Amino acid sequence: MNTHKTVLITGANSGIGLAASVLFAHEGWNVIMACRNELKGMEARRAVVRAAKNERITMLQVDLSSFQSVRHFSRQVKGRFMKLDALINNAAYFAHGSPHRLSEDGIELTFAVNTVGPYLLTEELKELLLKAEDPRVLHASSNIIKHFFDPKKELRLNRVTGPWPVQDTFTVYDQYRDSKMALVMLMFKQASVYRGTPISFHALQINGAKMSKSTLEGIAYPWKAAARIQNLFFPPPDKMAEKYLQVCSYSQFGEISGKLINHRLQVMEPASKNPSFSMQTKQVLHADYYPFYADNEKVQNELWELCGELTNKQPL
Ligand SMILES: NC(=O)c1ccc[n+]([C@@H]2O[C@H](COP(=O)([O-])OP(=O)(O)OC[C@H]3O[C@@H](n4cnc5c(N)ncnc54)[C@H](OP(=O)(O)O)[C@@H]3O)[C@@H](O)[C@H]2O)c1
Repeated sequence: MNTHKTVLITGANSGIGLAASVLFAHEGWNVIMACRNELKGMEARRAVVRAAKNERITMLQVDLSSFQSVRHFSRQVKGRFMKLDALINNAAYFAHGSPHRLSEDGIELTFAVNTVGPYLLTEELKELLLKAEDPRVLHASSNIIKHFFDPKKELRLNRVTGPWPVQDTFTVYDQYRDSKMALVMLMFKQASVYRGTPISFHALQINGAKMSKSTLEGIAYPWKAAARIQNLFFPPPDKMAEKYLQVCSYSQFGEISGKLINHRLQVMEPASKNPSFSMQTKQVLHADYYPFYADNEKVQNELWELCGELTNKQPL
């Protein structure tokens, strides 16, 4: 019998997802690499097997922007695995400079991949998670949520579906910012909905990790130039992959749930409603605080209901 722990990592063919696949594999876990592009996924799987000398690596194709694909993928996972010890929602769409696009289910693409996809995947796989002894769900968030220190900023949930209003400028950057805040708020809500079950939900605030060539290619000018400069200063993806492993395996993170964790593995605290300049600086430089807005339970509930309605999936 295979007694190894099993982790599922989305967006496992590049960047932090690939580095994490190698690391978990090296630590002896079974790794399910969930990749959008089958060919890239197969190549990445071979690289992981080679690097970690672990053959228990499975690659399965999934497009997180498509409900049908997420459901088909989840059925495959449930057919092949008895339990899931960790689910890492790492994949993200951030093709800055791209125009407004709707997913095949009619959802703005950034929000579809970065928020609704992780919601549906978690719901579809919860029965496997519940079979593990100490299951963890980890979402990859970003320090881009710092924009919500602005008290005027709020999630535009009424823009998630349908055409973008002609009078408003659309940017993937703004949608990425909102989708990552929504992911943190979803995590808080999931932790409360699943309280009393063994599943721990957390989000990791990522400040930066060197982006792959193909990720940089997906970004349009002028964003590309800024991303290239930033990339010079970012640590390699392995550094964040280590945090993924630590959050998914250290016992301290199984004893708590519903936490936003920073790159030093510290639990972040909510900032006050009108954060001082020094508090905002601490957030940006040290990631000690997150915007007050994230704790807004009314918006958390609206988001939860919206995800449920969109995917037509009843919560627990
Ligand atoms: N790198 C940073 O500086 C940074 C900073 C803050 C937060 N983060 C977060 O950290 C995570 C990893 O970032 P990274 O830089 O390692 O990213 P990356 O190398 O660009 O990887 C993103 C992954 O997501 C996959 N993906 C995109 N759309 C998908 C879809 N519809 N269905 C399934 N998979 C899809 C990509 O697949 P393809 O290769 O096929 O496109 C790729 O495997 C992301 O959540 C990101 O938001 C990163």
